[in-house]
Amino acid sequence: MTALYLDANLTDDERRHRLYQGDLFVYAPSPESLELVAFAREMLRQAFAPHDPELAQYSMPVADFAALLGELKPKFIHHPECKRLLPALLQRLGCDPHKTYFDVPRLRSATSDEYLTTGIAYAFHPHRDTWYSAPFCQINCWLPITALSPDNCMAFHSRYFAQPVRNSSEIYNYQEWNRTSRFNAAQQINADTRPQPKALEPVELQPDVRVLPPPGGILLFSAAQLHSTVPNTSRRTRFSIDFRIVNLDDATALRGARNVDSRCTGSTMGDYLRCTDLAHLPSAATAPYEAGPPQAATG
Ligand SMILES: [Fe+2]
Repeated sequence: MTALYLDANLTDDERRHRLYQGDLFVYAPSPESLELVAFAREMLRQAFAPHDPELAQYSMPVADFAALLGELKPKFIHHPECKRLLPALLQRLGCDPHKTYFDVPRLRSATSDEYLTTGIAYAFHPHRDTWYSAPFCQINCWLPITALSPDNCMAFHSRYFAQPVRNSSEIYNYQEWNRTSRFNAAQQINADTRPQPKALEPVELQPDVRVLPPPGGILLFSAAQLHSTVPNTSRRTRFSIDFRIVNLDDATALRGARNVDSRCTGSTMGDYLRCTDLAHLPSAATAPYEAGPPQAATG
């Protein structure tokens, strides 16, 4: 069973507990989330001018489009404005700013009709972020910048939340990936040759769950959810923002979703920044995660 909560009136402690059980949470746009989306939209507008960012794929050579994103995305990710807006957005959601750590927000694009689905605009096959060295206490926050429809969003395959999928996550080590593959994203235009953890058995993709918040609406889900990018056939490029959060108490107590099948090594624990002062997680909290998830896979 997967429950979907809309504008839930729960404490952050209760919400994280429900997220670790596989539930999903959606919140209506807030002034802070709308400010973040407006900021991203303005960056997109300037970068793609004179084209409409959602339609630019129909009038730009794909190599130029990839090069433009290769420049724009890091600019957004590291912009100081994001480090101001994310803590404000999280506080509005009821997260304790002294205990909540976030990583830099990613700007995502999903082009229509397989124009560009590799490298800088990678279309994610079904995966759990926990196959990519994310801790089991990680919660993903996802916000659309442009209007969503069932043919340009992301999908949850929630029946697998508690069910193992045979997968190749043991090939993945976040520290190793950072050293080798990450910086090649903009070059991977026709085929993506970087090794990614994948399911090694057929995954039943239907029925799936597609959640369609309005631009600036926020979707929260556990990093252990199996999810994928829906092949975009909407004739518009979809843009979205996502970032991840970790709660210090949960990280320290090794609380989180259950590990049913992740065998990756390394950890993203060094990436998260405290809402109040952008400090990293204390090393006492990150140490148990360094070699990989502290709880062994049960599948
Ligand atoms: Fe993901």
